Amino acid sequence: MAADRLMGRVATRCVLVVIALVAVRPVAMADDFDDAGLRAQIAALYPDPGREGVDATANPSRAELIALGRALFFDPYLSNCGTVACASCHQPSVGWSSPDEIASGCNGRVGRRRAPSIENVAFQRHFFWDGRVSSLEEQAFGPIISTSEMANSWEAVLTYLTSGRHEPTETVHPTRHSAYADSFRRVFQGEITATTVARAIAAFERSLVPGRAPIDRWLAGEDDALEPTQKRGLALFFGRANCSVCHSPPHYTDDRFHNVGVPAAGFETDALFPGNGEIRRIVAANGWRVGDDVDVGRQAAAPFESPELALGAFKTPSLRNVARRARFMHNGVFTTLADVMRHYEATASGDHDPVVGELAFYVRYRKALFGPRGGGEAGDIEAMVALMGAFNAEPHR
Ligand code: HEC
Ligand code: HEC
Repeated sequence: MAADRLMGRVATRCVLVVIALVAVRPVAMADDFDDAGLRAQIAALYPDPGREGVDATANPSRAELIALGRALFFDPYLSNCGTVACASCHQPSVGWSSPDEIASGCNGRVGRRRAPSIENVAFQRHFFWDGRVSSLEEQAFGPIISTSEMANSWEAVLTYLTSGRHEPTETVHPTRHSAYADSFRRVFQGEITATTVARAIAAFERSLVPGRAPIDRWLAGEDDALEPTQKRGLALFFGRANCSVCHSPPHYTDDRFHNVGVPAAGFETDALFPGNGEIRRIVAANGWRVGDDVDVGRQAAAPFESPELALGAFKTPSLRNVARRARFMHNGVFTTLADVMRHYEATASGDHDPVVGELAFYVRYRKALFGPRGGGEAGDIEAMVALMGAFNAEPHR
C-alpha cells in the first residue's frame, strides 16, 4: 500500500522532472545559462523552495533560555568523566557534527554511528539516523546517561548543577555554579530538574538554524549568487540526478528514511547491533536482499513495517551547511563530497549492484530514461560537489 502511494508520488514528480529536463538541457551552457527557466521549473516542482518560506523565529524560545541551553551543551561536567560535552561530538567547526567516523564518549567508549549535524533540527519530526525518537526534549535525556556518550547519572548532573560539586571527579566549580543558579532562577524560577535541563538544551538546538545561503539568493532571483559550475550542478540536482526527490527544499531533506546503498564502514559488528541478525534472517526469509551491513537502520526502529523500504534506510540529512562537515553518511564512511557523488553515480550507473529499497526504484527508473549509465556525463561530479557549497549559510546576510 505504502509502496503504491510512493510510486504514485514519485511518478508524478518524475513526470515533472522529465518536462523540466527537456527544457533545461539545451540551455545548460555556462554563459547563456537560462536562470529564469530553471527557476520556473523548480517552482513547478516545489512551490515554496526558498528560505523565505521558513519562519525561523516561529519557535517561542527566549534568549535567556537559549543561553542556558548553550552553556549546558558546552559543559563537559554534565558527563561522568568531566571531559565530554554535547559539543565534543556535535562540533560547531564541522557543522555541529563530528569529524570522526564514530564519535567517542567518556573513557574512549564508542557509539555505533556518526554524530550527525544538529543544525536544522527545529524543522524535523524524527531524531537519530533511524528516527527512533520523535521529540527533541526526549532526545536530550539520552546522551547524558548513555554509556557510550556521557555515561553519567541524572543524580550526579543535578547535584553538579545545584551545588557546583562534580562528584564523579571530586571537583568543585563555583563560577559555573553561580552562573547556573542565576540562569535557572531567571528562566525556570530556580527549578533544576532533568526536564528543565532537557528543555533548555532543546531550545538551544532549535536556535541552530542555518542562515541564508547562495542557493536562497539565487532562488530569490539573484542570477550571480551561483557560479556557472554550481548552476550546472543545480540543473542536475533538480533534473537528471533526481537528488531533490529526497533532498527537497527548503531544508534539502524530506525528513524521511531511505536506503541509498551506503557501504559498511568496517566497524559494524553483530555485537554492536544485537538483534539485527534476527531481523536480517526474517527479512531474507521474506525474499528481500539484505546486503552486507549489519546496521539495518530504520528497520530496527520500526520493525517489519515495510521490510523493503525500511531495511538499511536512514534519515535523509539536510544539505544545509553540508560542505562544512568532515564526514558523510550514518557511518561516516565517506570523507569527501566527491566520494559521496561517486557513490551516487556508481549506484545509478549500475557499476554497483543496485541495493534493496527505494534507490533501486529510482535507479531502474533513471536507467529506463537515460540508458545503462544512468545519464552520467563528464564533469557531473565536479558540478555536484561545487553545488554543495551553495548550501553553506553566509554569515552576514
Ligand atoms: C559521544 C558522542 C556524542 C555526545 C557526547 C553527544 N552526542 Fe548527540 N549524537 C551522537 C550520535 C552518534 C548520534 C546519532 C545516533 C544514532 O542516530 O543512532 C547523535 C544524535 C543526536 C541528535 C539527533 C540529530 C538528528 O538529526 O537526528 C541530537 C539532537 C543530539 N545528538 C543532541 C545531543 C545532545 C543535546 C547532547 C548532550 C546532552 C549530545 N547529543 C551528546 C553522538 C553524541
Ligand atoms: C532516495 C533518496 C535520496 C536521493 C535520491 C539522494 N539522497 Fe542523498 N541522502 C539520502 C539519505 C537517506 C542519506 C543518508 C544515507 C546514510 O547515511 O545511509 C543521504 C546522504 C547524502 C549526503 C551526506 C550528508 C551527510 O551529512 O552525511 C549528501 C552530501 C547527499 N546525500 C547528497 C545527495 C545528492 C547530491 C544526490 C543526487 C545525486 C542525492 N543525495 C540523492 C537520501 C537520498
